[in-house]
Amino acid sequence: MKTQVAIIGGGPSGLLLSQLLHLQGIDTVVLERKTKDYVLGRIRAGVLEIGLVNQMRAAGVAERMDKEGIIHHGTVISYGDDQIGINFSDHVDATVMVYGQTEVTRDLYTAREAMNGKIVFDVEGVQINDADTDAPYVTYTVDGSEQRLDCDYVAGCDGFHGVSRQTIPAETRREFEKVYPFGWLGILSKTPPVHDELIYASSDIGFALCSMRNANLSRYYVQCDLSDKVENWSDAAFWDALKRRIPEEHADNLITGPSIEKSIAPLRSFVSEPMKWGRLFLCGDAAHIVPPTGAKGLNTAASDVHYLSQALIQFYDNGDQAGIDGYSAKALARVWKAERFSWWMTSLLHRFPGQSDFDFKMQQAEVAFLKDNANAQAVLAQNYVGLPY
Ligand code: APR
Ligand code: PHB
Repeated sequence: MKTQVAIIGGGPSGLLLSQLLHLQGIDTVVLERKTKDYVLGRIRAGVLEIGLVNQMRAAGVAERMDKEGIIHHGTVISYGDDQIGINFSDHVDATVMVYGQTEVTRDLYTAREAMNGKIVFDVEGVQINDADTDAPYVTYTVDGSEQRLDCDYVAGCDGFHGVSRQTIPAETRREFEKVYPFGWLGILSKTPPVHDELIYASSDIGFALCSMRNANLSRYYVQCDLSDKVENWSDAAFWDALKRRIPEEHADNLITGPSIEKSIAPLRSFVSEPMKWGRLFLCGDAAHIVPPTGAKGLNTAASDVHYLSQALIQFYDNGDQAGIDGYSAKALARVWKAERFSWWMTSLLHRFPGQSDFDFKMQQAEVAFLKDNANAQAVLAQNYVGLPY
């Protein structure tokens, strides 16, 4: 089989790239190791930057998002009972869209299938060969038979545990990592959200986040120990921990209910450079991971996809290699800014085991400065809604 762009990974990065290239007449094949149902069963965050919203619209997959998504004009940062309302429009001409990232993936699958996009599920043993030549090819097994896919380029959209990043020789890769000494315990409940905006809550006993999917589906998180196990947390224990970390006025209004999903996720910052090696490009979680505190995971994958799709379209339209040659530097410039914001939000709002009294005071001073300073709030707003592509 031959294609122009082989895409490894059928998550949001791979699907959005495939859709954007298809609309410009560029042929792709997506190779996904799981089933579609498995991919759509992943619970993921739900805040979309305007850049991703616009890409979804440009990709022709925004109808349900525009109908069911909730536009948010601000967010709340709280410390104990103290609340800081960040009103985006006071600082930037942008909003965010609250719409489950699982729904983004679902909408992309619907569009790709409607256009007979070539997506191969349940692939095994994917190998990217000769990426550092002018004739790369991908080998894999499906239904027990070995396959070869010749291509012009390979897009590694296969996430943190994929094969693409590892295809780049170790001596060529530079990896940067910070593992946080805590995790997030998250639940999904069929209850109305506690507030009409997200609440990023810091308290003396740890972080909490109040989010949502729609008017009757809420997503909540509390900071937990890395050694914690989901089975240690009853629903009642979760709701108690949440109430003790969010401002009293919200705790008093919180409508609790049975969890329909409960899981613990570790937090890490990670970047692998470069994001291009020969004719292999890395996109999304294959190249970088952020702690979810800044809601930058999918949104940074989206800017990678924007740069790469534009570069490939430019090449196939008129042979101009500039975008391709400049992809890694351009993507990394924005990746690192997203890493910084995600690290800053995480460092500001969480309680670190063994944190010194001085560090605790620094956190409190940072929150006090944010509360008192419009410029500090503007910086948070600009980063949260998404820096320009
Ligand atoms: N072969 C084929 N497919 C693979 C392989 C492989 N060797 N390894 C992983 N995959 C698939 C996974 O099954 C998954 O469906 O690649 C896909 C990667 O998807 P994600 O991990 O969601 O990564 P990405 O598409 O970059 O999405 C980035 O989206 O949902 C948000 O916040 C989330 O940060 C994440 C962001
Ligand atoms: C979510 O809704 O799951 C969510 C929202 C914002 C974040 C992280 C997660 O920063």
